[in-house]
This record gives sequence, C-alpha cells and structure tokens, in this order.
Amino acid sequence: MLTYGCQMNFSDAERMEGELDKLGYESIEDMEQADLIMINTCAVRENAEDKVYGKIGEIKNLKRKNPDLIFGITGCMAQKEGEKLIKRAPHIDFVLGTNKIQEVVSTVSKLEQAQEKHIVDTEINEKDMPEDISIHRKTALSAWVPIMYGCNNFCTYCIVPYVRGRERSRMPEDIVSEVQEAVKQGYKEVTLLGQNVNSYGKDHKKATFAELLSMVDKVEGIERVRYMTSNPKDLSDAVIDVIKNSQHICTHFHLPVQHGSNRILKAMNRVYTVEAYKELITKIRNAVPDATITTDIIVGFPGETEEDFQQLLDLMAWVRYDQAYTFIYSKRSGTPAAEMDEQVDDDVKHDRLNRLMELQNKISLEKNQQLQDKVVKVMVEGTSSNDDKVWSGRTSGNKLVLWPYQGHEKPGDLVEVKICQPQTWVLKGELA
Ligand code: 5AD
Ligand code: SF4
Repeated sequence: MLTYGCQMNFSDAERMEGELDKLGYESIEDMEQADLIMINTCAVRENAEDKVYGKIGEIKNLKRKNPDLIFGITGCMAQKEGEKLIKRAPHIDFVLGTNKIQEVVSTVSKLEQAQEKHIVDTEINEKDMPEDISIHRKTALSAWVPIMYGCNNFCTYCIVPYVRGRERSRMPEDIVSEVQEAVKQGYKEVTLLGQNVNSYGKDHKKATFAELLSMVDKVEGIERVRYMTSNPKDLSDAVIDVIKNSQHICTHFHLPVQHGSNRILKAMNRVYTVEAYKELITKIRNAVPDATITTDIIVGFPGETEEDFQQLLDLMAWVRYDQAYTFIYSKRSGTPAAEMDEQVDDDVKHDRLNRLMELQNKISLEKNQQLQDKVVKVMVEGTSSNDDKVWSGRTSGNKLVLWPYQGHEKPGDLVEVKICQPQTWVLKGELA
C-alpha cells in the first residue's frame, strides 16, 4: 500500500492493512512482486493528486505483466473522483472512498473471485467508525490513534469536509483502550489524530478534548502524548490547563493560523481574528513558557494583496514560530474559494512563498540557536536517514535532534542530549 498525505491517511492505511491481514496478505516493499497494490490518496492540494496520477501510470505496466494483480485507489482523491478514475485509467480494479476501512476485505475478496470487474464505492459514509478493526501498526515510535473523523468547519479553500464528511468522535473508552493496547505492544508515545481535535466530543458529549487528554495522560506506561491538528478557534483554556498540569502531554502546540490578515481570514471562513489568535499565543506562552509553537500557512489565497501579505509577515515576526509549514494556495474545485475572483498569479504566489520561507527560516534558526549548549530530553527514534552512526530523536516540543550513536541507546529510550550545533531544521548534539 502506498500512502500520500496527512497522518490520518497513514493511520487509515494501518487499519486497512490490518484488515487485509485477514485475507492472508502481507505488506512488501517491491511493487513488482505484489498481488495487490493500493494507493491511499490525498486531495488537499493539486500536486498530491498529480503524484497519484504518476503512480497510476507506472502501475499500468505491472498490470500488463501480471494480469492477476489487483489494483485499487482509496482515500480522499478516490472519494472526490470516484468513477472518473476508472474512466481515465481502466487498469484500476476498485475505488473506495474515505471511511471504507471495513469494506476493503469484501471488495478485495470479490475481485479475487472475479465476481466483479470493477468496484466503485464512494457513497459518503458518515456512520460511526466500526471499532472491531485490526490494526497493522507501522510506526516505530509513536502509535497513531484516531479520535475523530471528518470536519465541520468548511474553510473555503479546503476539500476535507467534502471528502471526509461531518465530525464523528470515537467514544473515550475506545480511545483509552486503544492507547492501553498500544502501550502493551511496546509503544511509549501516541499521537491522537483528528482534523480538528479541539472539537472532539462536541457530537456525543461523553468527554471534551481536555477530558480526553487528561484520561490518556493517565494511562499507565505512556511516556508522551501528541495530538494533531487544531483549529485555533476551538482551543479552550481547559485544554491549555490540562497540558500545563499534565505529566506526559508534549509541549508542542501546532496551531495552523493560515493567514495574518483579518480580511483574508474572513474570506477563508477561519472565524478568528489576528487579535484573538495573538491572545491565544500569549495565553499559551504564559501557561507553558517553553512551548514549541508551529503553524500552517497558505499564501496566494484569492484576493491576497501585497498589504495582506505584509500583515502575514508581521504576524509571523510577532509569534516567532519554531516552524511553519507553508503552502501555495491550490484551487480545489467544489470549494467556495475556487469560484472567487482575483485568483493570484502563479509567479506572485511563488515570490510570496519564497519571502515567507526566508523569514521563517531565519526565525527557526534563531529559535534553535537559543538551545546552544542546553541539555534537552529526547525520545530515541533510531538511526538517522543518511548515516547509521548518527541517531535521531525528538524533544517534547517535536524538534528533531541528531547525535553520534553511543552503543547503548535504544528506540523509545529517553536520553539527554547537549546541543552543540543548532541548525534551521535540526539540532545536532551529543549525549549528555
Ligand atoms: N491549498 C493550499 N493549502 C491547503 N491546505 C488545505 N487546503 C489547501 C489548499 N486548497 C493546507 C492548510 C492545512 C494544511 C494541512 O494544508 O494549511 O492546514
Ligand atoms: Fe480543512 Fe479547515 Fe477542516 Fe482543517 S479545519 S480540515 S483546514 S476545513
């Protein structure tokens, strides 16, 4: 299974693979050897879709060599495009939209028995998620635990509410028992997932996000709790309070601001103002002084003027994010922003993105330089990607740390690292 996109997609993939284990499938790396290939797709930006079309093209040759190969597309782009995918690429055997984890087994069995030639199921499923799902966890360190599915916010640029449906929260006891199970399997860290975790529980009213965090914080054996992702409009004082007083919840606040101009925020339907967002940041800094704060930003939203963009730069300079994930606005058909006049020219978008990244890189470096010679607590992940003598891990604030391997540290250990060489993207150090 190839997966693109956000953590929720990776979590869905672990569940689909868990279900496929029931049919005797094992996951392998080499696509040439596969009997079944699935692409779990993302539709949030056009370039994510382009990558998938590229892969679909590659798989045509494999299908020619092995006519028994079963090939399916799942996830957000499958939900959005449905039947059209098969029209464009008839070598696709099945298309399953989002929230179809339980349908994977029956779909693949039908195709194995050649009962049907093509299967397309994109009926939007807004039922509660089934709980009796097998999970084939793939991550080494942090177990993904979805706490809610879907989104009700309808930010005007975003395709997610259309492809993932309305918000549905899992029951707190199911979440806690999944966390306990992950700990039993050896995980010391969990990441609670949702499109907008701060509105957790608003549907079933069994627990708020603050209460859920506090329950997960108390699970025996858990070392670190992370969560993704938040809409700033819903981050309550209660959540900040729980994090401040917790033992294990990481001091990382990912608060996607998306823009720094009230006019654009309004057009994006983000609901909060720049002033309210700043107040929130001040509250967090007062409660958790060493908090890492990161964000998502979109440049080139329709109607964005140079003045709006300057206001965005001003906000970034004011907040001083540790890191910002910056995106060029991508038109998603079916969303209100795609219909707006005054779409921004590509070269202007690229120029603004470059200026934004230049400012952010400077700030990221300066923030990391403050850690020069400091000792930070790191959860060991393992070898770094390009040198097996260099190991990596993350701080509670989610900063990536590298150090020369000393022979005794193991994945999941908490170690202390003295930072000798802080850089824009990583902190290099040695075990203290
Ligand atoms: N164009 C560009 N970026 C987008 N995002 C969501 N929709 C779009 C779009 N149409 C970004 C937002 C969100 C992140 C996951 O992706 O910044 O927070
Ligand atoms: Fe998209 Fe906004 Fe929902 Fe996030 S909160 S998934 S940006 S609609």
